[in-house]
Amino acid sequence: MKKTSRIPGFYKLTIDERLKKVVEFANLTDEEVNLLKKVGNLDLSIADRMIENVIGTMAYPFAVAVNFLINGKDYLVPMVLEEPSVVAAASNAARFMRRDGGIHVENTGPIMIGQVQVVGVKDPWYQRMAILEHKEEILEIANEQDPILVRLGGGAKDLEVRVIDSPIGPMVIVHLIVDVKDAMGANVVNTMAEAVAPTIERITGGKVYLRIVSNLADKRLVRARVKIYKEDIGGEEVVDGIVAAWAFAAADPYRAATHNKGIMNGVIAVALATAQDHRAIEAGAHAYAARNGRYEPLSKWEKDKDGNLVGTLEMPMAVGIVGGATKAHPVARVALKILGVKSADELAKVMGAVGLAQNFAALRALATEGIQRGHMRLHARNIAISVGAKGELIDKIVEIMVREGKINYDRAKELLEELSRKSK
Ligand code: MEV
Repeated sequence: MKKTSRIPGFYKLTIDERLKKVVEFANLTDEEVNLLKKVGNLDLSIADRMIENVIGTMAYPFAVAVNFLINGKDYLVPMVLEEPSVVAAASNAARFMRRDGGIHVENTGPIMIGQVQVVGVKDPWYQRMAILEHKEEILEIANEQDPILVRLGGGAKDLEVRVIDSPIGPMVIVHLIVDVKDAMGANVVNTMAEAVAPTIERITGGKVYLRIVSNLADKRLVRARVKIYKEDIGGEEVVDGIVAAWAFAAADPYRAATHNKGIMNGVIAVALATAQDHRAIEAGAHAYAARNGRYEPLSKWEKDKDGNLVGTLEMPMAVGIVGGATKAHPVARVALKILGVKSADELAKVMGAVGLAQNFAALRALATEGIQRGHMRLHARNIAISVGAKGELIDKIVEIMVREGKINYDRAKELLEELSRKSK
């Protein structure tokens, strides 16, 4: 049977029923299911090895977004976050994006940059050339640090040398360009940058201070595109509204920050579920958004010649599936299994696609009814469930509370009693 992530009414199922669907989709074992259900599923002993001064763990909701078709393949997308509506919005957006093979995503490969800062050089342009002349020697020292990576086809591939002006005078900045394969890459790049520093000092006669990865991972970009048919989303007026929302962000950094926050709602939720360094992704995204000297939206929305909506997104995506917390955290391993990604490249593609879908969901809501109605519906649903409503009664109570604009525990209880009496 062909696997599909298109699961209508997934949100209406009980937790156990949802889990059953995910088990079938991702072939999860009983042990993996029990892990997901366990309260506090990160053993203290593992937590204690991950960071310092551990006194406990903190659980967040773990959900899956459905309906994602990316480069022709179906994905259930694990998301971890605290904000209501985000998972529902992503799933709903992905539903409109299934035509034409779904969301199409490419990326530029797992290339990271390590920076080495050289100061105290009187003739920076001359020393720039001298460093470049020693490129092979420097790359060799870098590659000696990780023979396994080199054997896998990765490693330090190139050198770029920049001269920058700074408040304390010119600096020579060496960029080690490293193919990190399936790793996020910070560790290996930092090791390489530290290893080449003495040679660079010898060549230039300068002093090296910083030797560290750059989170502006602009050689590790993910590029997504999608077409959404106008008739699926309420016609050309909605398309125009979404294009106008994007144009607002393109013209105004105050709006662009919120526009990009919507993208990061999706990206970071997947990053958390798979235990990525989400601070690095966040830093890279915003630095990239400001690369032209003004903070800009990471996505673009246009109307094509037939009046349909077309969207694109381009952003750095430094993620890994080997090493670090990805391997240490047992739930992250289950998340990767549910996703079924085989490489860091593929994970980056999924995250780019989720970012674009999340952005579309937000803009569509904002350009039409606003986001509060959807929020309120979910809020009402949670309250209806919390007073003990089941099945169709949940929908009825939600309907009435939303219509009345009175969404609270007491009203939900009242309605449950009233409707239960009537149905007897
Ligand atoms: C809320 O978490 C995200 C939005 O503000 C994004 C946006 O405004 O585009 C809805």
